[in-house]
Amino acid sequence: MQFAIVIMAAGKGTRLKSKRPKVLHEVGGQTLLRHVVDAARQLVPPEDIYVVVGHEAGLVKESVAGLGVQFVEQREQKGTGHAMQTARQATQGYEDVIVLYGDVPLIRPETIRKVRDFHLERRAAMTVLTATPEDLHGYGRVVRKSNDSDEIREIVEQKALTPEAAKAPEINSGIYAFATKPLFAHIDSLGTNNSHGELYLTDMASILGKAGERVVALKAQDADEVLGANTIEEMMAIDGKLRLLTARRLMGEGVTIFRPETTVIDSGVVVGADTVIEPFVQLLGQTKIGKECRIRSYSVLEDVTLGNRVVVRQGCVITQSRVDDGALLGPYAHIRPESEIGEGAHVGNFVETKKIRLGKGSKANHLSYLGDAEIGAGVNVGAGVITCNYDGVSKRKTVIGDRVFVGSDSTLVAPLTLGNGAYIAAGSCITEDVPEDALALGRARQTIKEGWSAARRNSKPR
Ligand code: UD1
Ligand code: CA
Repeated sequence: MQFAIVIMAAGKGTRLKSKRPKVLHEVGGQTLLRHVVDAARQLVPPEDIYVVVGHEAGLVKESVAGLGVQFVEQREQKGTGHAMQTARQATQGYEDVIVLYGDVPLIRPETIRKVRDFHLERRAAMTVLTATPEDLHGYGRVVRKSNDSDEIREIVEQKALTPEAAKAPEINSGIYAFATKPLFAHIDSLGTNNSHGELYLTDMASILGKAGERVVALKAQDADEVLGANTIEEMMAIDGKLRLLTARRLMGEGVTIFRPETTVIDSGVVVGADTVIEPFVQLLGQTKIGKECRIRSYSVLEDVTLGNRVVVRQGCVITQSRVDDGALLGPYAHIRPESEIGEGAHVGNFVETKKIRLGKGSKANHLSYLGDAEIGAGVNVGAGVITCNYDGVSKRKTVIGDRVFVGSDSTLVAPLTLGNGAYIAAGSCITEDVPEDALALGRARQTIKEGWSAARRNSKPR
């Protein structure tokens, strides 16, 4: 029979001092809850996953809606034991249930599977995943019946540590397997006689033990995997570990990352071999980078697709855009959403683009704003060119043909079309369409007043 997975995510996260519920804080670019749900989804179909929600239930549900998981509402959060009582109705039809905590994000599906296998093999009523991290503070301690026994006597919370429990080197990860029959037969024996006045799921260890049921522990090989995220500091430590894992994966795939500890790379990011990533680069969201690219320092790319051999120089901000093979960006280019930068195109310093298509080999090298524009191939956009795409009410489009030359400091007032091969004189304000191969000048004719400057100088009182 299929087993259920219960994920506890109803708590507020008081120790975070945050408005946002704890399980919606992010590590590695994803919410804590999403990490846990993704691990669970590797093991059972989503309809067997029950997320216990309570504090800000609407927001928490919304964050994983669409994945097909089930929800159980714990209206008042009276502890992890109470959360499990709340999930009784939904899960008592299964033979076994795995419990995961929504704030233990690094847990791997393989480890959950090991807990379940061990649980079945030992025919246990309760199996606890333990670990021996360097810093035990804050965790419940698992007291074994004896050093060489896999059976445990009790789990003692940090605040109630007895001298004996304080000596126990193993902590409770918050990941358990239960046989539902003994669990729900005894779960109402949980009491609130503890410092928080809550129902602790951990107390099921001694309750089931006293009832003659088998309660066993399995130690995780890697203590990092069960780190809990209760404070911002703990969360950032986990974030660092997770991002380092991603950097290591990419390096294993042939990507050079200088000083990987300074980069912020989300786990979904894909990078091709022989690409070089310099220090202090952020690669976020669903960013995909091709082969032989170079991403120089202080660039931030989010949901971006880069082709091969693209160079992103220092300090670029690129969002929800596509950049084709061999293009050259920056330094300090701002590529805003829905920009498509063509093959071999150049976008230079202090150029901002938004919702444009820049054709093959076209160049906008200095100090421009290009928005809502279709720009053909082989175009030269001079320094300081501005597309005036907004008239204060609505956005309008600029269409620039192939091989157009737009002289420096021109303003192109949309809607506007410049035909193929057109030439715009520097400093023009262009308000009317320009036909193919024509020259357009849109500026005052220059006048010269001979001797004017010298006369002015001479007339000044000394
Ligand atoms: C818990 C364990 C502790 C273990 C540690 C591992 C208990 C009593 N203690 O402590 O032994 O070492 O996790 O990280 O279980 N939650 C609910 N409803 C509630 C209360 C909590 O859904 O009423 C959820 C929280 O959202 C959280 C999880 O349960 O995701 C754990 O709760 P938390 O308060 O963080 O427990 P810890 O004090 O960390
Ligand atoms: Ca916790």
